[in-house]
Amino acid sequence: MASLTVRKLDEALKASLRLRAAKAGRSVEDEVRMILREAAEPQAVKPPSGPARNQPHRARASSATDLPRVTLIIGGGIAAYKALDLIRRLKERDIHVRCVMTRAAQQFVTPLTAGALADERCYTDLFDAQSEFDAGHIRLARDTDLIIVAPATADLMAKMAQGHADDLATAILLATNRPVLVAPAMNPLMWANVATKRNVAQLAHDGVSFIGPNSGEMAEANEAGVGRMSEPTEIAVAAEAMLRPPQTGPLAGKKILITAGPTHEPIDPVRYIANRSSGKQGYAIAASAAEAGADVTLISGPVDLDDPTGVRVIRVESARDMLAQVEAALPIDIAIFAAAVADWRIANAGEQKIKKTASGMPPLQLVENPDILATISKHQQNRPQLVIGFAAETQNLIENATSKLKRKGCDWIVANDVSPASGVMGGDRNTVHILTRDNAEVAVDSWPVMTKEEVADALVAKIASTIGQQNS
Ligand code: C5P
Repeated sequence: MASLTVRKLDEALKASLRLRAAKAGRSVEDEVRMILREAAEPQAVKPPSGPARNQPHRARASSATDLPRVTLIIGGGIAAYKALDLIRRLKERDIHVRCVMTRAAQQFVTPLTAGALADERCYTDLFDAQSEFDAGHIRLARDTDLIIVAPATADLMAKMAQGHADDLATAILLATNRPVLVAPAMNPLMWANVATKRNVAQLAHDGVSFIGPNSGEMAEANEAGVGRMSEPTEIAVAAEAMLRPPQTGPLAGKKILITAGPTHEPIDPVRYIANRSSGKQGYAIAASAAEAGADVTLISGPVDLDDPTGVRVIRVESARDMLAQVEAALPIDIAIFAAAVADWRIANAGEQKIKKTASGMPPLQLVENPDILATISKHQQNRPQLVIGFAAETQNLIENATSKLKRKGCDWIVANDVSPASGVMGGDRNTVHILTRDNAEVAVDSWPVMTKEEVADALVAKIASTIGQQNS
């Protein structure tokens, strides 16, 4: 079988691959796989419904890319064979599984078997030439909703507690910001050892969750006690509870869609036009709505923020991509458009990098982008019950926000002053005014200066009480 090294491709091809991959929210490696699969079996590949990144904790699965994702780290113990069954138990619960094996684990089970059961190759090496160009361990650490370590040996837990990163499994565990569920398995004397107890206490203090070990017979003859790995079904149930926690709270059962961040409108493969937007306010609202029990989809332009916990995040680049993802998410109950969408895009974006020439600057033609807020506010079949827009203004704030409320057809406008002196752009605080419709009039509620998290909490509380009143 021929092998292909992306690093060795010419720069232009690599640049367009990166662009394609970024647009789809996939790694370059996955994008190349997708292209090859499309070419080899065009019938088998359905167009992706959205980027396969950090998928929902709570969302119901409608396609493979909607499934919550688990990275299963298989440690080196006799219980490794049970990890193979765990793959099946997770998959039957509509959970996508990607396996990583330590060197010791490969003495008990093979990467081939784990890969075949998971439907994706099993990762084993920190310095894997195939994914090296792609910061493999960082991707494996982040591109998941939960990491399970099963079986977790005494040695692997000691390394985790100490922060070692000398192989792929420990590097992933050190690089992740996702929840970690550990299923220990070892001889009862090792489990009872004070060093293991110290490591378990440290890991629990660090926020790691544990399942088991159970008591029972050991693989070693005539040995019994606490140290058996929990059964695969028990681990799968615990994982599912972490991935799909029961919804409670004032917005339980409500589907909320939020747009956030800027959009990037390409000029050529390396340049773009954009708005200044950190995405912080929209991300804070998403986190707050998820805490209030809502099923939250966050459609985000390019920002440098971690995905909020319990939120389905779909990454997009351009305004047109954002609109397509918003429409794909309908029907929803509540829509909050906090994104700073670029009003225009380049009509004649270059396929290749535009070069400087003696004839002067290239002419850039602009065309208007679709207005996502107005489109959804005026949607014929699927208008959400509550549509909220933002108005970021540098002057005549209330006047401009009032005309925006009327022009765009939304229910509320959250207006904020973003003149440079306000420090709102990229900052952590915000002063907002909530404009609502009061029969034919517009009511203005001005809130004091607050952190963006406080604004998010107050906005979500106002949404919950309004929706509650409308539905009662
Ligand atoms: O017209 P302006 O960009 O000031 O309107 C701001 C509001 O409209 C925000 O809620 C923003 O997310 C939304 N918007 C949009 N699509 C656009 C432009 C703005 O959804 N193309």
